[in-house]
Amino acid sequence: MNARSHAIFPKVNRAGWIDTFRVITTVMAPTVAKGVIIRRPAMERLAERRGFDTSAVKQMQRLKNKYGAAPLLLPIPFRPQLLILDPADVATVLQSSPEPFAAATAEKHAALAHFEPKNVLISSGPRRAKLRPAHEHALATANRLHPYSLHFKSVVDAEFRQVLNGIGFNRPDELDWPAFSQAWYRVIRQIVLGERARNDITLTETLNELRGRANWAFAAPVDQRKLALFHRQVGGYLAEPEKHSLISRLPDGDELAPENQVAQWLFAFDAAGITVMRTLAVLACHVSCWVKAVEEATGADLDRPFTRSCLLEVLRLWPTTPVILRQLTKDIKAGGRIIARGTGVIIFAPFFHRDPALVYANRMEPSIWGRNDALPSAGLVPFSAGPIICPAHNLVPTIASLAVGTFLSAADIVLLQPSLTVGNLPGTLNHFDIRLRLTARRKEK
Ligand code: HEM
Repeated sequence: MNARSHAIFPKVNRAGWIDTFRVITTVMAPTVAKGVIIRRPAMERLAERRGFDTSAVKQMQRLKNKYGAAPLLLPIPFRPQLLILDPADVATVLQSSPEPFAAATAEKHAALAHFEPKNVLISSGPRRAKLRPAHEHALATANRLHPYSLHFKSVVDAEFRQVLNGIGFNRPDELDWPAFSQAWYRVIRQIVLGERARNDITLTETLNELRGRANWAFAAPVDQRKLALFHRQVGGYLAEPEKHSLISRLPDGDELAPENQVAQWLFAFDAAGITVMRTLAVLACHVSCWVKAVEEATGADLDRPFTRSCLLEVLRLWPTTPVILRQLTKDIKAGGRIIARGTGVIIFAPFFHRDPALVYANRMEPSIWGRNDALPSAGLVPFSAGPIICPAHNLVPTIASLAVGTFLSAADIVLLQPSLTVGNLPGTLNHFDIRLRLTARRKEK
């Protein structure tokens, strides 16, 4: 036992074996099966049909009612985990990261080793201290608007106007995930790597293959050849960074293993695209929100607070990072117990985001966010919070609100599939199967 134990939680409860097994089967397994690093369409579809996400939240509520709000120790052999059940503890854990709650957990190492083994997320100590500021500078973490926002708007507009122009002409008047995501990947590549990367589909394909392996984490060997190929491909862009690309804001030199950092950016923008598609779907059936968002979209301001709040609501309702993981770097004291160093910590976001005690649990309520993008003491943390908060927590809502705006300013949108009830939104919204009908508001010739 470590002599320097810390008192962080007044109390920790211990779950019985059957309850531990239930958490594994109803909370952890479905999350992993949907694909943590790249979503699996068949599993998303199954989760939607069977209501896995709603069942997981119910299971967590049952545990909280049974054991109380203190963190719950799941005695999983070789890998004990503390399940956080109180929003106040969400804030404590995230604020007290990376010490003693390290972001670099064994599970993340196993997954990220497949495509970014030297990424900041799985770095600790002095290396994290070096890497984090590089991300924060490149992504302009502290700024509500990234200094390149105007350029990003021109990229987003150009790509999505092309999609809009094709609609009803060489394409049916529908927007589905395949059509949207191809354009979105072109946007991502240009924003991250520069215009030169616009059509580098091979790069995205290589990354997505590596992400597919990363879903299997420990269970699949790293494809070292493909990993080296991917890093070489990214390295080609890093060697001559284009003006106004995100990579142009990284410091020179190999010390940061920049390919490993950029891999995370390319990967994580996928979640932003999913959020844009879901936001369009929800706004299409939400008249009052639609009107306000269209007003912003047709204005000149790059900062669109209402659209941002809608995006945050979509991330609250369907978090793209449903589980935030931590690992104890030292023993901690909790009531009469010592929780050993190495114990995992699980924050299952949907449990807090969809707490039925919240009047707005299952509907969109943009007003809750104000100017914030994290409300940790209420457990509302789509971008996490504290020192390890997503360094793109300002950049993502900016780019995503610009993307939503390009559609809203040019087209009327009807949600064809799935059918949504705005007052009672479902636990799962499978983005792969969203279909929108767009009617471009064309000017008369
Ligand atoms: C919808 C989009 C996104 C969401 C919801 C999201 C959310 C998150 C969350 C929850 C974390 C984990 C933080 C923690 O463990 O406490 C994270 C980490 C991170 N995200 Fe994002 N993210 C998104 C997009 C992006 C994008 C587009 C980038 C880069 C361009 C990015 C860069 C990072 C990096 C570098 C980290 C690691 C931070 C660290 O370890 O210090 N994210 N993100």
